[in-house]
Amino acid sequence: MPLFIPTIALIIKSPRADAAAVVGRERISLNAGWRFSRFTSNPDSLSYSTLKQWILPSANDFIKGAERQRPSGTPPGNSVNYVQASFDDSAWEAVNLPHDWAIKGPFNAPGIGGGMGRLPSNGVGWYRRKVTIAPDDIEATKSIFLDIDGAMSYTAVWLNGNLVGGWPYGYNSFRLDLTPYAKAGDNLLAIRVDNALDSSRWYPGAGIYRNVWLIKVDSTHVGQYGTYITTPTVSTQSATLSLVVEVENQKNTSRQVDIVTEVYELDSMTRKARGDVIATFPRGTIKVAAGAKQAFNSSVTVMNPLFWGPPPTQKPNLYVAITTLYASGAPTAMDTYETHFGIRSITYDANKGLLINGQAVRVQGTCNHHDLGSLGSAFNVRAAERQLQMLQEMGSNALRTSHNPPAPELLDMADRLGFMVLDEIFDCWNNQKTKNDFHLIFTDWREPDLRSFIRRDRNHPSVIAWSVGNEVSEQSGASGGTTGQVLRDIARSEDPTRPVTVAMNSASAGSSLADIVDIEGLNYQGEGLGTSTSGSFPSFHKTYPNKMIWSSESSSALSTRGTYIFPVTSGNSATVGGASAGGNPTAMQVSAYELYAPSWGSSPDKVFGQQDRNSFVAGEFVWTGFDYIGEPTPYDSARSSYFGIIDMAGFKKDRFYLYQSRWRSEFPMAHILPHWTWPERVGQVTPVHVFSAANEAELFVNGKSAGRLKKAQYDYRFRWDNVTYQPGDLRVVTYKNGAQWAVDTKKTVGDAAKLNISADRTTITSDGSDLSFITVAVVDSNGDTVPRASNAITFSTSGPGQIVSTDNGDPTDMTAFPSLSRKAFSGLALAIVRANAGASGKITVSATADVN
Ligand code: GAL
Repeated sequence: MPLFIPTIALIIKSPRADAAAVVGRERISLNAGWRFSRFTSNPDSLSYSTLKQWILPSANDFIKGAERQRPSGTPPGNSVNYVQASFDDSAWEAVNLPHDWAIKGPFNAPGIGGGMGRLPSNGVGWYRRKVTIAPDDIEATKSIFLDIDGAMSYTAVWLNGNLVGGWPYGYNSFRLDLTPYAKAGDNLLAIRVDNALDSSRWYPGAGIYRNVWLIKVDSTHVGQYGTYITTPTVSTQSATLSLVVEVENQKNTSRQVDIVTEVYELDSMTRKARGDVIATFPRGTIKVAAGAKQAFNSSVTVMNPLFWGPPPTQKPNLYVAITTLYASGAPTAMDTYETHFGIRSITYDANKGLLINGQAVRVQGTCNHHDLGSLGSAFNVRAAERQLQMLQEMGSNALRTSHNPPAPELLDMADRLGFMVLDEIFDCWNNQKTKNDFHLIFTDWREPDLRSFIRRDRNHPSVIAWSVGNEVSEQSGASGGTTGQVLRDIARSEDPTRPVTVAMNSASAGSSLADIVDIEGLNYQGEGLGTSTSGSFPSFHKTYPNKMIWSSESSSALSTRGTYIFPVTSGNSATVGGASAGGNPTAMQVSAYELYAPSWGSSPDKVFGQQDRNSFVAGEFVWTGFDYIGEPTPYDSARSSYFGIIDMAGFKKDRFYLYQSRWRSEFPMAHILPHWTWPERVGQVTPVHVFSAANEAELFVNGKSAGRLKKAQYDYRFRWDNVTYQPGDLRVVTYKNGAQWAVDTKKTVGDAAKLNISADRTTITSDGSDLSFITVAVVDSNGDTVPRASNAITFSTSGPGQIVSTDNGDPTDMTAFPSLSRKAFSGLALAIVRANAGASGKITVSATADVN
C-alpha cells in the first residue's frame, strides 16, 4: 500500500543575464557539449612518463630559475585517434562539465576499497569537443588560453592533434596557451585524464570536475593571476592599497602600455561594481619587451574603508579593482581585468589567538573534503553554498580546505559569506601515504603547484593562512624541517602577508618542522590523543611563546545520524568499539550519542574542555563538517565517512547542536537526544542528553522531573544517564543565568502513515546548475518523523527538470546515487533536483513509499 503521495512544485526562473562582455577580454564557458569515454585499461599507450617532458614546461610561469624546455620532435599522442578531428565520437557519452564520471557508480568498483569510496574513479578518461574560433580572433593577434579549474588527474590537452601541455595535480587550477595551435573555424579539443588505483586516502572523484574556460584577449594583457593587492596599512580612517599588475606581452614586438586601476565597492551578490569610483591608482606606463612580462607597482589610499570580517560580529565587505590596459595613448582598452579583494587586518597572537580588525575572533572551523555528497566531486555552486550556509547556521566561521586547493568559487563564497579559510595544498610530500599519491611527482611539481595555488588565491580576504601539508610523515624527522622550509619560503615569496603552517599530528615542540612554521597547527595531539588529556598544547606554547597555536584538525568524532547504541559510556569521550563502546560492527553504524571517536580522536566535549583549559589556543578546525565519500572509519566495508557533524545528504546529526551550543552561545536552543520511540526498551535505562548553551536544565519524563542539573566547569552537555524508558514524552527546560533559555521536547511516535515533502528552495534558476534539495520525511499520523523508518521511497518529477541524485546519509547504503528509489534512513531521504538549462515553468516532484 503506498503511503500518501505528496508533491512539491518548484518554480523555475530565468538566470540573470550575463554581465556585458568586459572590453578587450572574453571569458567563455566551455562546460557544454563534450563527448566522453572512460577506459579501464589504457587505450592509447600514453602515460605520465611518456608525456612528462612535454607537460613539465606548462608550469614555467611558476618556477624560478631555468625554464623547462619542450623537447623537439613530435609529441607523444599526436597520432592517437582521439585527438584527431576525424575520429567519430558519436558513440561516446554526451556530458557537460563539471563532470565526475565515477559518481554514478556502481559501488564496489573493482580495485577501489572503502578508503577511496568504492566508486569507479580509476581509469583513463578522454573528453572531446569542438571549439569554434572566429577568424578575427586569430587575425587580430589575440592570445587564446584554456583555463581548467580542476581535472582529476594527470591532465594532458591536445588541440587540433597537437599536444599543448598538461598538469598532473588533480586539485590545482591551470592555464594552457592554445594560441600556437588554434585556427579560424572549428578546432578539436581533446583532453586526457588518468587516475591510478590507490591514489588517495579519500574519494578523489574523476574527470573534469570543475569549470573550463576559453579566454580570448589581446596578446598584450594582464597575465594569469596577474594582479596582487595587499593592504600594508589599515585603520578605520584609511587603508593603503598596494597593487602589482603584471602585464604579459606575447607579441613579437615590444609594447608600451598604460595601466589604469579604479576601485569600487563590490556588490557580493551580483559580483559587480557598485556606486562611484572610490579610489584610482596612479596611471602607469610601462614598456613590455616582446615575449616578456613586466610588473607595475602602485598604491592608493582608501578613506573610511569598509572592513571584511567574519559574521556575526563583523561584515564581509568586498571591493573590486578594475584594471584597464591601453596601448599607450590609444583610447580603446586592450584588456580589462577585475580583482575582487577585501580590506582587513589580522593579528596572529600567541596568547589571544586571532584578532581580525583588532577584534578577537575564535576559530570555529570545520575541515571538509571536496566532494558534495551524492553529487560527487563535480563542483556545484549551490551545493557548496548550501553546505556553507548550514555551517554558518551552526555558528562556524572557518574552513580548512583539507587537504587540497578548493574550487575557485568556494573561495568567492567564503569571501562573500565571511568564512576564514585555512587554504591547504598537500596531503603528502616525498613520502607516500598511498602508493600512487602525489609523492610520485612531488619533486617536480611542489614548486609550480604551490606558486600557482598561492597566486590564484592570494587576493581572497577569506584566506587567512596557507597550509603546505597535512600529517606528512616527514614531520618527525629532519626532512620535515628542510622540506617544510623550502615550501614555507616559496609561500612567503608569493605572499609575504600570510603565515604558513603545516597540520602536524606527531611532530613535537622543538622538532625541525614545528620550528619553521609560522602557526603551530596541531592535529589531535594538542588536546591529547584519544581519551588522554595530556596533550601538547602546553609544551608548544612554552617552546614557541610568540607563535599562535590552533587545532588544525580536531575531534574526528564518529556517528551515524539517528542511530543510538546502548549502553552509553559514562565518560565524556570513548574509543569506538563493539556494542558496549558505541559501535555496531554488524550494521556498521556508530552511536549518535556523540561520545565516540577512533583511537586518535575524541568527542567534541573533550576537545572543548582541552581548548578551554589552554585558553591561548586560537580555536579548532573540526574533522569534519560534512560526511564525505570514502574513509569509512571504523567500518572499511561501508561507502562513506562517519566523521561529519552533518551527514552526506545534508541532514544534521545531533552533533550539529553540540557545536551550535558552543559556537552560537547567544542563540537560545536546546536539543534532546535520543529519539523517544523504543518499543523494545520499555523498562530499560535509556540515557537522555541535552545540548544547549544554557547552564542549568531540568528534564521531565512523562511530566515528572528527572532532576535539575547544573553544568560544571568543562561540562558541555546535560546528561540524565539513568532514565528508564517508557513511551510518552520528554521535555527539557533550560536556564541561562537563572532565566529560562530554551525548551525542547521529544515524544514517542506512531507507525509510518504518510510522507512529508519539503524543499530548501522552491524557486530555482534554469542556468543548468542551480539545484533544489528535496527532503522526504516518513511521518506518523500526527506528522511526526518516524525516527527509524526505512521505507523505500520512489521519487519522480514532471516538467522541465530532473532528479540528479538521491541519498539518505546512511554510510552503508550502496544504492547508486542517481537511483530514483532510495530507502529512507532514520526517517529521511533526499532528492536533488535541477531545472533543465533554459527551461521555464514549473517542476513537480513527488514521492511514494511502500509501508514495510
Ligand atoms: C587525520 C587526517 C584526515 C583524516 C582524519 C580522520 O589524521 O589528517 O585526513 O584521515 O585523520 O580521523
